[in-house]
Amino acid sequence: MVKVLIATDKPFAPVAVKGIREIVEEQGYELVLLEKYTSPQELIAAVADVDAMIVRSDKVTREVIEAAKKLKIVVRAGAGYDNIDLVACTSRDVVVMNTPGQNANAVAELAFGLMVYMARNFYNGKSGSELKGKKIGVHAYGNVGQNVGRIARGFGMEVYAFDPYMTDEQIKLAGAIPLHSVEELYATCHYVSLHIPATPDTKKSINRDLLQRMPTGAVLVNTARKEVIDEEGLARLMEERPDFSYITDVAPDSDLFKKFEGRYYATPKKMGAQTEEANVNAGLAAARQIVNFIKKGDKRFQVN
Ligand code: 3PG
Repeated sequence: MVKVLIATDKPFAPVAVKGIREIVEEQGYELVLLEKYTSPQELIAAVADVDAMIVRSDKVTREVIEAAKKLKIVVRAGAGYDNIDLVACTSRDVVVMNTPGQNANAVAELAFGLMVYMARNFYNGKSGSELKGKKIGVHAYGNVGQNVGRIARGFGMEVYAFDPYMTDEQIKLAGAIPLHSVEELYATCHYVSLHIPATPDTKKSINRDLLQRMPTGAVLVNTARKEVIDEEGLARLMEERPDFSYITDVAPDSDLFKKFEGRYYATPKKMGAQTEEANVNAGLAAARQIVNFIKKGDKRFQVN
C-alpha cells in the first residue's frame, strides 16, 4: 500500500489535514501524520517506509532522504523549497515539487498586518501614520508580490515593482509601475516588501549599500526569508538611521535588532502562510499532486 507522510513541525489547520486524508484515502493509500516533532531523528524515523511526503519549512536533508528508502516524491506545500536538499533528492531519483501561489494571499495579508502594526506604533495609543499615499516597492513580483500589489492599491499606495523575470508589460498588467533595478526600487519607495527566494545568489543580497538608498521614514518588510538579509549591515544602518524600521515574519537567530525598540518587530513564529485557507489550498494541492504523480507520472510543478 502507498504510504503518504505529512511531516509538519508547524501543523496545518485540522480542516486541511482532513482534506488531505480524504484525497489520500480515496485512492486506497495510507496517511501517516508527524506533527510538532522536536528532533530531526523523529523525522528520519518517520520516513523509513513512506512513498511520498508533504512538508512545509521542514528540513529535508540528505540524511532524511537517505533514510527514506522507498521515497519517490516530496511536495513542499508552499512556495520556497530552500529547506529541501534538491541534490540529494535528484541523486536518489526523488521528485520534488512545490505548490506555487497556494498560500500567496495569506502571506501578502500578513505583510499588511505588519505594516499597519508598525505604522500605528504597535497600537500603543501614540499618533502614527497611514499607508495611503506612500510608495511601496515590491521586490519580486510573483504570486505573493502581486497579492501585495493588489492589497496595496486598496490602501491607496503607489505600487512599484522590480522583477528581472518579468517584462514591463507584464508588471503593468499586474497593476504595478515597473522599475529597472533594485537600486531604483529602494531609492524610490518608503516601504519595500521582500518576496525573493533564498538562493546562493540572493543570500545576504539585501545589504546596507542597498538599504541606505531608501528615503527618510523607510520601512523594510520581510515575509520572505531571513537568509536574504545581510543582518549585520541592516543593524549598522539602523544604528546610523533612527528613521529606519524593520518588520519581519522571519525572525533573525540573533538579538541584533532587539535594541531598536519601536522600529523593529518580528513575529514569534513564522505566520505568513498560517491560515486555514492557505493550509487547505497548499495542503490539498500537495495531496493531489502526489496522487497525479503516482497514478499518471504527472510531474507538473517539479523543481529538481
Ligand atoms: C512558503 O515558502 O510557502 C512560505 O514561506 C510559507 O512557509 P510555511 O509553510 O513554513 O509557513
